[in-house]
Amino acid sequence: MKREQWGSRTGFILAAVGSAVGLGNIWRFPYMAYENGGGAFFIPYLFAMLTAGIPFMILEFTLGQKYRSGAPGTLRRLNHRFEWLGWFQVMICAVIAFYYVVVIAWAISYTWFAVDQSWGDDSNAFFFGEFLGLGDNSPSSLGSIQTHLLLPLVLAWAASFIATYRGVQGGIEKINKVLMPLLFILVLVLIGRVASLPGALNGINWLLEPDFSKIWDLKVWSAAYGQIFFTLSVGFAIMLSYASFLPEKSDINNNAFMTVLMNCGFSMLAGIMVFGALGYMAHAQQKELTDVVSSGVGLAFVTLPTAINLLPAPGVTGPLFFLALVFAGISSHISIAQAVTTGLMDKTGWSRQKTAIIFCGTGFVVSLLFITQGGLLLLDLVDHYINNMALLGSCLLELFLVGWLCKLSDYQKRANELSEFSVGIWWQLCIKFVSIAMLIVILFNNIVGAFKENYGGYSNNEILFIGWGMIAVMLVVAIIINASNKQEVNA
Ligand code: PHE
Ligand code: NA
Repeated sequence: MKREQWGSRTGFILAAVGSAVGLGNIWRFPYMAYENGGGAFFIPYLFAMLTAGIPFMILEFTLGQKYRSGAPGTLRRLNHRFEWLGWFQVMICAVIAFYYVVVIAWAISYTWFAVDQSWGDDSNAFFFGEFLGLGDNSPSSLGSIQTHLLLPLVLAWAASFIATYRGVQGGIEKINKVLMPLLFILVLVLIGRVASLPGALNGINWLLEPDFSKIWDLKVWSAAYGQIFFTLSVGFAIMLSYASFLPEKSDINNNAFMTVLMNCGFSMLAGIMVFGALGYMAHAQQKELTDVVSSGVGLAFVTLPTAINLLPAPGVTGPLFFLALVFAGISSHISIAQAVTTGLMDKTGWSRQKTAIIFCGTGFVVSLLFITQGGLLLLDLVDHYINNMALLGSCLLELFLVGWLCKLSDYQKRANELSEFSVGIWWQLCIKFVSIAMLIVILFNNIVGAFKENYGGYSNNEILFIGWGMIAVMLVVAIIINASNKQEVNA
């Protein structure tokens, strides 16, 4: 059977941008920039983008396009002993798919709530209490399912199901061609609305004002590098499998630059939108910005609703905010799901319809764990270990295996032959030295930190069995799959 292909170059780029631009751009990037030196953060961030993001993107586009299979297949082609890393990456995606979808489900609910601001005056109590039903739960005592979240969860899974079921051109490409332009327009409209409010410019200034003293702080650099892999979806199967559907003749370098630049540009826009809203809110409540700023889940589902209450015509602007979150989330979730189904299909030869049914069906059931009363805490713990350990480890291993144990210059040659413009020797140096060195430092720090103090105050057993246990199981399963293959090769 012939491998599916993207219908057009624009289609591929929009899908890649759709994957890269996600919840992380809206709720992680702005806060991270603000925390790590404001305008000065752009120096390490741009440095990480140039030395890690772009080279890694070029590498994954080249490998995917050349070997035309998902992460396990591509790594097996490089060396049959590398295949396990591909499965480890596929499992990272599967786990992310199970909880990322729940955040999209929240955003769907909130789009609806925003019409009449059903969260009322105390958006904090509403989110944690009424909405999530969080009591004295913990990651290991989840309580019962919040049934009002079932419908939004089905809707959130439906998007990825339809996309994978209908395939690369008829599903993924079509959906992204609609969602991405809409998302950019939405964000521009929201910036236009927010920027003209009193105090908004102050908020934006707070974000951009450079604090150069932070430049010498290693933490700031590791934040920048950590964010770049996550935000670009590189190093854990996603871009590799998207690139495996590229036609024979495809520009690699240019596509990679465009994807990276659009993602980072979008992050800037999101930063301006979020801090504009925060600045207005601080002004309206006569508070300092430092008192209203928050990160992650709290930013999107507690702070933003309060800001929306204060807006003129909140019933219009509010739903648009959450719709932007939904669109950004869905296009990323599609790419995460696709990385898993591509891996499965390449391995088993199942049809994509069958694979879509099996993966999304199983995924829906697993994601029920995260719509329980304690679901948020489980999500928080799992997300922390996936992001700070598994994902960075996977990036490091991939760069090491490909950079040091394969002939990197061959891939540089191949990328350059296919592309309008060429990359020089800096490309190899960035992969073999700069990125790897940074990843070792960050990962080492994270691991040491994990042993010094339990993340989020969770219990020893929860950290051991849910955090580390999950990663250990993923590794063992990946190695078993790889080992069972080796016999086939030898036989
Ligand atoms: N890169 C996207 C973001 O910044 C989404 C994403 C995250 C995709 C994690 C895959 C894995 O949110
Ligand atoms: Na991103």
